[in-house]
Amino acid sequence: MNLTLTSGKKIKVKQGVSILESLKRHGIFLTSSCGGKGTCGKCKIIVRSGDVESRSHIKLSRKEVHEGYALACMTSPVGDILIDIPKESTLTVEGKIVTSKSKDLLALFHSTGADIDPLSERIVLKLPAPSLDDNISDLERLKKELFANGLGCLRVPFRFMSNLARTVREKNWEITLSAIHSEDCYEIINIFPGDRKIPQYGIAVDIGTTTIVVYLIDLSDGHLIDVASIYNSQIRFGDDVITRIVNATENKEMGDLHRAVISDINELITILISNHKLDIDSIDSIVVSGNTTMIHFFLGLDPSAIREEPYIPTANTFPLSHAGELGIKVNRNVPVYSFPCVASYVGGDIVSGVLAVGMNKKEELSIFIDIGTNGEIVLGNSEWLVAAACSAGPCFEGSGMKHGMRATDGAIEGVKINPGTFEVEVKVIGDDTKPTGICGSGMIDAIAEMFLTGILNQKGKLQKNISDRVREGEDGLEFVVFFGESRDIVLAEPDIENIIRAKAAIYAGFSILLKEAGFTFDDVHKVYIAGGFGKFLDIEKSIILGLLPELPKDKFEYMGNTSIAGAYLCTLSRKLRGEAEEISRKMTYLELSVSRSFMDEYVSGLFIPHTNIEAFPGVKELTKK
Ligand code: FES
Repeated sequence: MNLTLTSGKKIKVKQGVSILESLKRHGIFLTSSCGGKGTCGKCKIIVRSGDVESRSHIKLSRKEVHEGYALACMTSPVGDILIDIPKESTLTVEGKIVTSKSKDLLALFHSTGADIDPLSERIVLKLPAPSLDDNISDLERLKKELFANGLGCLRVPFRFMSNLARTVREKNWEITLSAIHSEDCYEIINIFPGDRKIPQYGIAVDIGTTTIVVYLIDLSDGHLIDVASIYNSQIRFGDDVITRIVNATENKEMGDLHRAVISDINELITILISNHKLDIDSIDSIVVSGNTTMIHFFLGLDPSAIREEPYIPTANTFPLSHAGELGIKVNRNVPVYSFPCVASYVGGDIVSGVLAVGMNKKEELSIFIDIGTNGEIVLGNSEWLVAAACSAGPCFEGSGMKHGMRATDGAIEGVKINPGTFEVEVKVIGDDTKPTGICGSGMIDAIAEMFLTGILNQKGKLQKNISDRVREGEDGLEFVVFFGESRDIVLAEPDIENIIRAKAAIYAGFSILLKEAGFTFDDVHKVYIAGGFGKFLDIEKSIILGLLPELPKDKFEYMGNTSIAGAYLCTLSRKLRGEAEEISRKMTYLELSVSRSFMDEYVSGLFIPHTNIEAFPGVKELTKK
């Protein structure tokens, strides 16, 4: 059977195989947040001709069904078909590779007081030339010289033996060893003729569920050379970690998920290397941060037990691996350090974040929160750390939201509503870009403004007849944030409920951690916020929504992507890698899903800002105006 796209592309398909799956097998990817369960409604196609079999269209309106729309994951052809893929269903994972630089990181590194001590070091040796009187073998000569320089023993993997004789002679017995140092012994990862002390670069990677970021770092001085990032192409297997684990295990796509993340990292490294015209052999180490599931996929470990009670990962600490074992296209012997995790839902990205904000070094009580595809919270100080994950879901990253999207070009990231006319002013990411959706910070802004202007009540219900922007939509009442030419961007009541549930879970997480540790919000000295909100998160609006506690504004610090910042620090320093390991050992994990008081706190948070308005005196004042 043939499936033809209106663009002219033709692919062979099998009866009984969904259109989503058939397209995927031919490298055509649709947005599929739910991973093909028929519940997200994002994989819409239009059947132009031919017969199909459909299981369910619960996410389509009557009008759409009439126009030939179908969910690709729920539909399979029964003969030759012609289909169209609407723009909004097309997954642009390859997207655009963003490169940028940051100046502050080196200052952050220096503030730790650590010395530059990467995973591997370069040692330049000038060997004495052999003679009839000094006729020991090349390998013995090398080992002897290292020992004579007080550097200790040397292990030479067999693969370096065949070229050793040529390499040592090429530059008149001067050589550079690139080597990993452990237990007083060096293990060679590369040998160069002559003095190749510099350049030497390190790669730091943050594997986010949504975005992968790679830093290229000069290991001689800690300077950040460049940054590249891309959407995690595992998104084609689902937006959240659970859907991806299901795909990996039940649909036997583990290999595909592993290869997807490796290929993204390779693509980013290749771009950085070619932009800066570097020799691939100048890359000497790789440090990877990410949540527990992402690290499992990266290392090719079975993640299946992570999603089932009692939620056990294969490992929380990982032995050093090598680039070649994982398929990373640099010198195959380059060491790869994966961040230690704490539990299934508090991963290396959180350990890395705590290290980057330095709360493990401060005597005062701080809170660290990472709002990404989940909400992970850490409370503590230099003595102790306690962490929890509060299943906020990925709505702040746009998933499960009708017009939600990530904080990228075209996303509405700021919303202002005129309280008199209800006119809406939007701030869009990207120069002169037309809005195509709304990202987390835009949603927080919009809901807080809708609440302050009376468009939304405390229970998160839209008020009819207050403005013509509130109208009846396919999913009940909706608020039009932006009137578009081809489609309007709306926040529908189910979207608003979604956000309220997420913020209630996060606020409940704060409350329970404090309660369990015997503190209150007033004892908190700093709240560090990390997450994928781009450059913009309005603290005041987040308090109005009830996502953050009402504390003086100067107690909040928005830190951006702390996972990559921690990976950067560990690329440079052995001491800081040790600190990361200490953080992971020290952090106590609190399982909230079994906590009765978490449920009580969560239910109290299902209001704007909270059932207990006395905890938000400033917001109470604002609503009186
Ligand atoms: Fe088809 Fe979600 S509805 S992938």
